[in-house]
Amino acid sequence: MVWLMGFKPAILAEVPRHKGWQDPVFDRPEALTVNTAPRARFEGKTILITGAGSGIGRASALRFAAEGAGVVVADYNLPAAQETVALAAQQGLGDALVAVRGDVSIEADNVAMVQTALDQFGRLDMAFLNAGVGGAFGPIGEITVEDWDYTFHVLVRGVFLGLKHASKAIRERGEGGAIVLTASIAGLGGGAGSHAYSAAKSAVVSLTRSAATELAAHRIRVNSVAPGTIMTPLLHRGRPEKIQSMLPPQPWPDDGQPEHIAALAAFLCSDDAAFITGETVVADGGRTAQGMALFGTGASNALMQRAGVNRGSTGEPSVVHENPPRG
Ligand SMILES: NC(=O)c1ccc[n+]([C@@H]2O[C@H](COP(=O)([O-])OP(=O)(O)OC[C@H]3O[C@@H](n4cnc5c(N)ncnc54)[C@H](O)[C@@H]3O)[C@@H](O)[C@H]2O)c1
Repeated sequence: MVWLMGFKPAILAEVPRHKGWQDPVFDRPEALTVNTAPRARFEGKTILITGAGSGIGRASALRFAAEGAGVVVADYNLPAAQETVALAAQQGLGDALVAVRGDVSIEADNVAMVQTALDQFGRLDMAFLNAGVGGAFGPIGEITVEDWDYTFHVLVRGVFLGLKHASKAIRERGEGGAIVLTASIAGLGGGAGSHAYSAAKSAVVSLTRSAATELAAHRIRVNSVAPGTIMTPLLHRGRPEKIQSMLPPQPWPDDGQPEHIAALAAFLCSDDAAFITGETVVADGGRTAQGMALFGTGASNALMQRAGVNRGSTGEPSVVHENPPRG
């Protein structure tokens, strides 16, 4: 612990105080307390993670377990969930995880997943409702009602049911908690994904806001992550090298990895995010920040191959230097 008490700059000491006025920092020593102990942010807590048999969910299961949480590793694909638990065991974290099969679109399965947390760990504090599929794709005139409904069942009904049952269990303990949903940048902008997937992820963004508003009274925070392109089996189907050339341009030079999103989910569940609720946090290597990428990105960006000034229609001359030196 590092205590900075007693240090008060002269200028603040002279500020006149009204009755009941509190200096937001200097009157609360805890605000100046920096915890330098090794981080085990979730010691004694339990999280349910759906879709934890692969990709983002698997990386998150390992991350939360490493930070002290008990983890219910839930997935439609039970052998995949069991593989996550085996991977954790190789890292000495085996006791902290339990695998369970569950289809997020089925209400009884959600009840059972939550019950597994209560049976195995005696409590539920957090949920990462992350299971997902690519769902229906193709021109809108070609999408079948069955494929549309399947997409919404997994991506929207699954999140609704997870929210319904996880929040009940967390609320019943009366100690508050945190729920994170997996949205996508596809839910934030047109053209980023297929019709059904984008619409479903937009619904997740909306649910984040409405659930956060209701559950704040119970000290349950609800946020979502909006990943950009993340190298998981959903994207590369086991052959990451094959899709490199097909990836959409993104300013950040490194690929998005599942552990990037796991770290964000852990932050959103932690006390470090104690005043954040109802938010959708983008993690996409700058892809949405670059907006329309009007002039292309990287080497294809024509404006990066020249330098100068364009004085438009003023009648003043424009200046262009070809191939300016880099650096
Ligand atoms: N990979 C990306 O580029 C990317 C980008 C944005 C959002 N996402 C979202 O991230 C989440 C995780 O995807 P990922 O990339 O890790 O994919 P992934 O395929 O690696 O993992 C998804 C997991 O969800 C499970 N699952 C699918 N349907 C289920 C159901 N009905 N019930 C329970 N489990 C089910 C799968 O079995 C799988 O283990 C999804 O919601 C996805 O839409 C991914």
